Formats: sequence, structure tokens, C-alpha cells
Amino acid sequence: MNNNSIQRAVIASILSVTASAWAQTSVGLGRADYRDNCASCHGTTGKGNGPMGSFLVKPASDLTQIAQRNGGKFPQELMWEIIDGRWSGDGGPHGSREMPVWGQEFKARAMTQTGDSPTTAEWSARNRIVSLIRYLETIQVP
Ligand code: HEC
Repeated sequence: MNNNSIQRAVIASILSVTASAWAQTSVGLGRADYRDNCASCHGTTGKGNGPMGSFLVKPASDLTQIAQRNGGKFPQELMWEIIDGRWSGDGGPHGSREMPVWGQEFKARAMTQTGDSPTTAEWSARNRIVSLIRYLETIQVP
């Protein structure tokens, strides 16, 4: 296995564990998180037309066409990689990407705002990312 496929396998296992064992992940939680954290750039409907758009170098993607751009299949693992962001090479706070690194962001918030331990904060961040992915899956256009 090369690095990339190891990474994919790890992400796949995180997704399957969380999806089956975590009652807290929900489309509703993802929807609320989306409204609070993503709509400013991606737009309330996910079309990529949020109010922050004019400040971005690269336009925020249309999130309703992710499946369409991927041959009709919603790529869960790829979405995890992109949204979590800690997996991508240049992700870090000083990387070239304009999107916040949500894995890091959600974990930091859980530690500073809720006082979670690093481990609890990590699970809470993963929980939110899975919920966001589940929500995004519901807004795909055919
Ligand atoms: C500060 C603006 C901003 C915010 C806030 C933001 N994004 Fe993004 N997002 C972007 C930009 C810009 C891109 C596209 C290009 C890039 O940076 O690589 C992007 C790309 C994406 C992509 C990749 C889509 C594809 O088809 O490749 C996904 C998925 C995504 N964002 C999800 C989210 C989620 C979920 C949230 C909230 C937790 C969020 N974004 C918040 C700016 C933002």
C-alpha cells in the first residue's frame, strides 16, 4: 500500500465506525453546522454564492454538484479529506487553501469553548464532520 491508499483506508474505517456506532451524528446537526460555518462562503443553499465570496481568490465550490462532478457518486472519503483538511499536504493554517481546516478548527473549539480533553475534542470534531458529510449528501442535485 502506498501512503495514499493507507490514508484512504484509515478514513474509510473512521467513517464506518462513526456512521454505525455514533447515535449523535445526524443530518440535522450537519445542517445547523453548515448554516453556522459554511454558508458564509458556500451560500445558504450550497450553490457557492455566499456573502464572503467576493473576498476569496478561488470561488467557493458549488456543494450541490459534488456527486455530479464525480460521475453521479457522492465521494464520502474524499469529502472527509477535504473538510477535515488535516490530511491534505498543504492544509495547515499557513497552507495555500482558503478553506478553514475544519478538523483542526472544530477540535480547537471543543477544547477552548467546552473544555474537552484532546481525545474527546477529537471525537467531537469527527462527529461534526461526519454529520456535515451526511447533510451534504442530502443536498446533491441528481
Ligand atoms: C472562508 C470561506 C469558506 C468557508 C467558511 C468554507 N469553505 Fe468550503 N471551500 C472554500 C473554497 C474557496 C473552496 C474551493 C477551493 C479550494 O480552496 O481549494 C472550498 C471547497 C470546499 C469543498 C470541496 C468541493 C469539491 O467538490 O471539491 C467542500 C466539500 C467544502 N468546501 C465544504 C465546506 C464545509 C462543509 C464548510 C463548513 C464546515 C466549508 N466548506 C466552509 C471556502 C470556504
